[in-house]
Amino acid sequence: MRSLDGQLAIVTGGARGIGEGVCEVFCKEGATVALWDVLDGSKVVDRISKDGGKIFYQKVDVTSTESVKNAVEYIIDNYGKIEILINNAGIIRDRSFMNMSEKEWDEVVNVNLKSLFIVCKAVLPHMKANGYGRIVSASSVNGFQGAFGQTNYSATKAGISGFTRSLCKEVGKYGITVNALAPGFIKSVMTESMPDEIIEAGIKMIPVKRIGTPQDMGYAYLFLASREAGFISGITLHANGGAMPN
Ligand SMILES: NC(=O)c1ccc[n+]([C@@H]2O[C@H](COP(=O)([O-])OP(=O)(O)OC[C@H]3O[C@@H](n4cnc5c(N)ncnc54)[C@H](O)[C@@H]3O)[C@@H](O)[C@H]2O)c1
Repeated sequence: MRSLDGQLAIVTGGARGIGEGVCEVFCKEGATVALWDVLDGSKVVDRISKDGGKIFYQKVDVTSTESVKNAVEYIIDNYGKIEILINNAGIIRDRSFMNMSEKEWDEVVNVNLKSLFIVCKAVLPHMKANGYGRIVSASSVNGFQGAFGQTNYSATKAGISGFTRSLCKEVGKYGITVNALAPGFIKSVMTESMPDEIIEAGIKMIPVKRIGTPQDMGYAYLFLASREAGFISGITLHANGGAMPN
């Protein structure tokens, strides 16, 4: 028996990067995964399906109440329940605060933070009806230590941890846990375009002496999404190779 056998998991932003790693790990552990993204997720679905994973793609914009509502309705009509929600979708619009536009601020707040309001509102009634749920959302090391040019991003990522601490108090009685994961320096589209020397300098600062992978994050999400983690709620798990005081 695998740890997520028979469970339905939504992974937002699953078409690439960390989200793709989460889809891969959750499918290996037996979940049926609904991959939500504004980007085309069909290549990820094809690759994981070939390895025997149960996964389907839904084009969903997590900033749109209508888009999220339709996607949840489809899942309930076809699968009847939702056990796990991974709020992984996120964006950056980096700029020093003095030069940051209101648009850059709003876009990041909408995708990274307001989306949690929209998606959790749509999913929670079904978890409550089922008496079970695991919600895990993507915070970030930069929500805790800050980063130059990321006032918008850091505010949303710290906000996600606050949202998590509060929501867990409201829904625990329904068998639902709410946690966050704060990834550190992870291999991604962003890091792919960085010069080698910047990556090497970053790795020097990490006690385990390597960059994290999407699969590392997949297993960290798996822990918080597992049935066995039922006494853990409201926390932010820091997955950063020891790079900052947690
Ligand atoms: N990569 C890192 O080092 C790192 C570190 C800390 C936290 N994080 C967080 O982890 C998450 C994933 O990061 P990543 O590096 O894999 O990023 P990524 O840009 O590779 O992937 C993010 C995914 O979210 C999707 N997305 C964006 N807006 C969306 C929307 N409105 N609706 C649905 N999907 C949307 C994108 O299309 C993309 O597929 C993000 O929340 C990010 O802030 C990443």
